Amino acid sequence: MTSTPIAPATGRLGVLTPGLGAVASTFIAGVLSIRNGLSAPIGSLTQMAHIRLGARAEGRNPLISDFVPLASLDDLVFGAWDPISPNALEAARTAGVLEEADLGPISAELEGVVAMDAVFDSEWVKRLDGRRVKTARGKLAQAQALIDDIERFRTENECDRLVMVWCGSTEAYQEPADCHMSLEAFEEGLKRDDVNIAPSQIYLYAALMSDVPFANGAPNLTCDVPALVELAGQRGVPLAGKDFKTGQTLMKTILTPGFKARMLGIDGWYSTNILGNRDGEVLDDPENFKTKEVSKLGVLDTILQPEVYPELYGDIDHVVRINYYPPRGDNKEGWDNIDISGWLGYPMQIKINFLCRDSILAAPIVLDLALFMDLAARARGSGVQEWLSFYFKSPETAGDLPAEHDLFIQQTKLKNTLRVWMGEEPITHSEA
Ligand SMILES: NC(=O)c1ccc[n+]([C@@H]2O[C@H](COP(=O)([O-])OP(=O)(O)OC[C@H]3O[C@@H](n4cnc5c(N)ncnc54)[C@H](O)[C@@H]3O)[C@@H](O)[C@H]2O)c1
Repeated sequence: MTSTPIAPATGRLGVLTPGLGAVASTFIAGVLSIRNGLSAPIGSLTQMAHIRLGARAEGRNPLISDFVPLASLDDLVFGAWDPISPNALEAARTAGVLEEADLGPISAELEGVVAMDAVFDSEWVKRLDGRRVKTARGKLAQAQALIDDIERFRTENECDRLVMVWCGSTEAYQEPADCHMSLEAFEEGLKRDDVNIAPSQIYLYAALMSDVPFANGAPNLTCDVPALVELAGQRGVPLAGKDFKTGQTLMKTILTPGFKARMLGIDGWYSTNILGNRDGEVLDDPENFKTKEVSKLGVLDTILQPEVYPELYGDIDHVVRINYYPPRGDNKEGWDNIDISGWLGYPMQIKINFLCRDSILAAPIVLDLALFMDLAARARGSGVQEWLSFYFKSPETAGDLPAEHDLFIQQTKLKNTLRVWMGEEPITHSEA
């Protein structure tokens, strides 16, 4: 096979995060700790996973990082915007995810990641009172201020390339409006301050206008609109989203393909969580929770195909709850009760109690997305990067195609994309 020409990963890669809260600070602290030789990059495919090449008998199984030209952790520089956190050290201490013993050796570097003033509107995140906010009046001026920030960051840090990963709060639920239907309508909307343009969409617009790939870690509508997909295509910039797949949804997309593979029925799936971090507080507002709920509820149907298997999956009661419970901090506890049915319809139950750490699961996803989005840009990938569905609860697709939620199909697609780009045969597992 002929390979795709990929520009080398020379020079520095700037990773910009709108949002410097629990996830972003855990990601930055983790990378600093790893590159100082203090920790291992557990949970990151770009750092730890191997990839099989060719027939099994060939025994070729390099690390992904030795197979594709990824930016090295030593070449990453970090930038962020936040309306509350002043810098990554304060953000990490407030989040309380990592212990002082882990933060101590890297505290000076963390303190050096100073948040830029945010484009923030409390209408979209009612539970937060943002103070470090841009003074630019009007959405077009705010977009221009972000474009200026991006260029300043690029120059001051001597970056060769940049990527942006949204790690900001979940915004209030939003349906696409007229201003989202075409690029022309969106730019008109920016000029006349259309209320339907969310802050995250202003960041995305600024990123695309600066030729910076954008990945959306929250369930916000952000990239899911024709106007901004059109802009990404026009400028040839990669996009991906949305909502990091961690915790309960990760478990769902690991288990559900297994039940379906064995043709076991599912009658109900009740999921509840307690969560005490700032994300949990934001999600305590019904409008913000609705955005998350829609993202979490979507996964079962596309894996189970109830239209193909009405007897097994035609009538599932799927309920998802998130309860804000401050004492638990970032250590989310999830409970799942799954009512399944087997031979002759006999019922069975499965209970899962997942004591997880949200940001510990999300941080390696931010790293992988930053490195893979940069790779996609150097491979001249443009628009929605479906091969990165592996990382998202609500994967975006090109056009109107249904999303793929099955973690194992997503993994195959990711690895086969890398194989094909590098001129290797995709692996179908049908022969040697
Ligand atoms: N941790 C996980 O497992 C996980 C999984 C999926 C999605 N997410 C999403 O990732 C996002 C970050 O999660 P977190 O736990 O770090 O939350 P967090 O509340 O700790 O951090 C979010 C930060 O975004 C900032 N922010 C809000 N609006 C902003 C704006 N307009 N511009 C810049 N910054 C803004 C807030 O001040 C806050 O510091 C959330 O949307 C969350 O739903 C997290």
